[in-house]
Amino acid sequence: MIIVTGGAGFIGSNFIHTWLSLSDEPVLNLDKLTYAGNLENLSKFQSDSRYHFVRGDIGDRELLARLLQEHQPRAVINFAAESHVDRSIHGPGEFIETNVNGTFHLLESVRGFWQSLSVPGQTAFRFLHVSTDEVYGTLAPNDPAFSETNPFEPNSPYAASKAASDHLVRAWHHTYGLPVLTTNCSNNYGPYHFPEKLIPLVILNALAGKPLPIYGDGQQIRDWLYVEDHARAIIRVLQDGRVGETYNIGGHNEKANLEVVKTICQHLDALRPRADGKPYADQMTFVKDRPGHDRRYAIDASKISAELGWSPEETFESGLEKTVRWYLQNPAWVQNVTSGDYRQWVEKQYG
Ligand code: NAD
Ligand code: DAU
Repeated sequence: MIIVTGGAGFIGSNFIHTWLSLSDEPVLNLDKLTYAGNLENLSKFQSDSRYHFVRGDIGDRELLARLLQEHQPRAVINFAAESHVDRSIHGPGEFIETNVNGTFHLLESVRGFWQSLSVPGQTAFRFLHVSTDEVYGTLAPNDPAFSETNPFEPNSPYAASKAASDHLVRAWHHTYGLPVLTTNCSNNYGPYHFPEKLIPLVILNALAGKPLPIYGDGQQIRDWLYVEDHARAIIRVLQDGRVGETYNIGGHNEKANLEVVKTICQHLDALRPRADGKPYADQMTFVKDRPGHDRRYAIDASKISAELGWSPEETFESGLEKTVRWYLQNPAWVQNVTSGDYRQWVEKQYG
């Protein structure tokens, strides 16, 4: 079996869906259930004997030691993190706590377990760390895309905390021999995406008749990847990735934020036209820029493509339409995530 941390979040829950659709190998999901963790994302597996949930913190070594001994996983995949850049600007402390200290404690727990295994068990074991392209910093318009050899130049507290965690993972391999793999992925989108992030925020604000906030001039570029493609990439890396290596994962989909927002509006105009017949794009509103806002991200995914034969299946057009449809078809999920804490966040960030 495998242990997944942070499996109640956006990417972790999509990963569990993909994993259990392809395999009967059980998954234990260890998640602290912060504001971003949502067990509804996994309600489908509530009575599935292949799925187990434990609420807990990756920094809790006692709990980790017990779970690892009891379940004897062949792999641990670490999704658990604080993940929102804007939140890291308002309050970086949690990001250091979970992304840096939490990863350290997790690595130490996993190292203790791994060292207790037989030699064949040690050889087969993998610790896969899920990270981000933001560790590489920002690109000028004509710079080549980020490759695995780009230097780390993180610019936000979030990116710096993820870069720190990547360094820890690397060091635990070089120093202790822990069989690690690291993936650095670009912006994901798809079902179960918490509406603090651009794409779900814009879909839900549009439907609610609220402004669609565009930071600065809206010309910042992100490389969008449909979340199921990311999940498939992680599975490929887990299966055949070379121990100690990092793999960049991206969608070959560089889009300016303004274009993304306009495309979402067009999908909504077609699928759920406004009552007054006007275009959703009328709700676009330029707001104050994010401090330290990275201008452009782009991933060179040639290593994972050449070594592991992975490439994205979804285009941005098909993936975005699926995503818009998913939000339209799941009002109960939306209703539940947009209450309570979420309202406070929106008030703090957008006034
Ligand atoms: P998310 O914020 O949606 O989910 C994070 C999950 O981790 C939540 O379920 C939360 O409850 C859990 N968690 C937080 N702190 C924890 C702790 N101390 N112990 C246990 N669980 C904890 O994040 P996401 O967007 O799904 O991202 C998952 C991972 O992928 C993160 O490491 C992130 O840095 C990375 N990543 C995200 C993207 C993206 O576009 N969202 C892109 C590349 C990489
Ligand atoms: O690149 C990978 C990263 O992608 C992940 O590591 C992060 O966990 C994930 O949150 C995401 O970071 P971004 O900051 O790129 O995503 P976000 O959805 O917050 O913003 C996307 C772009 O849209 C970014 O340029 C900021 C802009 N934006 C965002 C929001 C929330 C707006 O213009 N308006 C908004 O209201």
